[in-house]
Amino acid sequence: MNSVSSVDWSLVRTRFPVVQRHVYLNHAGVSPLGTHVTGAMRAALHRLECDGAADYRSFVRRIEEVREALGRLVGAAARDIAFLKNTTQGLIIAAESIPWQAGDNCVITDLEFPANVYPWLHLKRRDIETRIVPAVEGRIIVDDLVAAMDRRTRALAISWVEFSTGFRNNLEILGQLCAERGIFFVVDAIQGLGALQMKVAQCGIDFLAADGHKFLLGPEGCGLLYCTDSPKADLRPTNVGWGSVVNPDDYLTYDLTLKDDASRFEEGSLNVVGIHGLGASVEYFLQLGPPAIEERVLGLSDLLVEKLQAAGALITSSRATEERSPIVCFNLASVPPDEVQRRLRAAGIVCAVRGGAVRLSLHMYNNEDDFDRVIHALSTIAD
Ligand SMILES: Cc1ncc(COP(=O)(O)O)c(C=O)c1O
Repeated sequence: MNSVSSVDWSLVRTRFPVVQRHVYLNHAGVSPLGTHVTGAMRAALHRLECDGAADYRSFVRRIEEVREALGRLVGAAARDIAFLKNTTQGLIIAAESIPWQAGDNCVITDLEFPANVYPWLHLKRRDIETRIVPAVEGRIIVDDLVAAMDRRTRALAISWVEFSTGFRNNLEILGQLCAERGIFFVVDAIQGLGALQMKVAQCGIDFLAADGHKFLLGPEGCGLLYCTDSPKADLRPTNVGWGSVVNPDDYLTYDLTLKDDASRFEEGSLNVVGIHGLGASVEYFLQLGPPAIEERVLGLSDLLVEKLQAAGALITSSRATEERSPIVCFNLASVPPDEVQRRLRAAGIVCAVRGGAVRLSLHMYNNEDDFDRVIHALSTIAD
């Protein structure tokens, strides 16, 4: 396995043409694609152009290889991975499939992106209460989550990394408290997966959902759902279609026996071109090594914070070792965040404003020069 120092990060950078045009620090929004990703998608498109589905079996083989690669990335078996169109679809599947009884409740936080809010609020029609735990200064306090739970709590649904603050929840601790209470543990992983290491079993996760277009550095509209074997038997999937059943190709035998793996949630045709792109990205992560990538992105975020602080910026993201992430939010004392973002954008720096702060979200191919350009641009704003 590579260590952070054995990877040539300048070589990694050459795969990302975006660096020739922008300092790209919005991976928590929509990420640019690497040449390995666009190359794989182009090759798939070319084959579709020339051969249509004449050799569809080779596409099916590739889909299964990518499923296996995604499994390796999250520490799971391929059978526990389903391809979905986005994070929200995965969270809807979790919310709708849990075997609720009227009067049950689920716990979320008030830092969640709406993808992880509406599927739960929508359960009100089934008499399921959603309890929204407030964050304290951008941090989620575990005791506050516990205090919101009672014997009718059936699920905790939370982001791995909170999109507006970059706060990283401790999934091992949360997974343990869910296991102790027999609660489903549902994780929106889109703001971490690809940049940070994931071991689903170690964290006791029942459902994990992410789309490809953020830290996975893949295309939009092609994501994954991890769903472990243990709760599958009890689940009541609602997105049942021709792809969900044991004999999907036996078209006129209508046998509603569901597959026993996560692909039961793939109700119909998949985004084959997207899967080629996502697969190229994930296989590159695996080749570089998730531990090396995590060390790289966290090291870069420390460096960025150091430089921002030296430039007089107020860091609003938690920088505690276990709570930091590749998302760094800051403010300047005298300039509103929207204005800072506008000026950074004019200087070629792509970033966002979230939760009243400027959000910089980096990935492994960013480097110190990128950050120096940010600092230089900030120095002209403060003048
Ligand atoms: C935490 C989080 N979840 C989900 C999403 C997007 O969900 P989807 O992949 O369904 O578009 C975002 C997008 O910003 C997000 O920040």
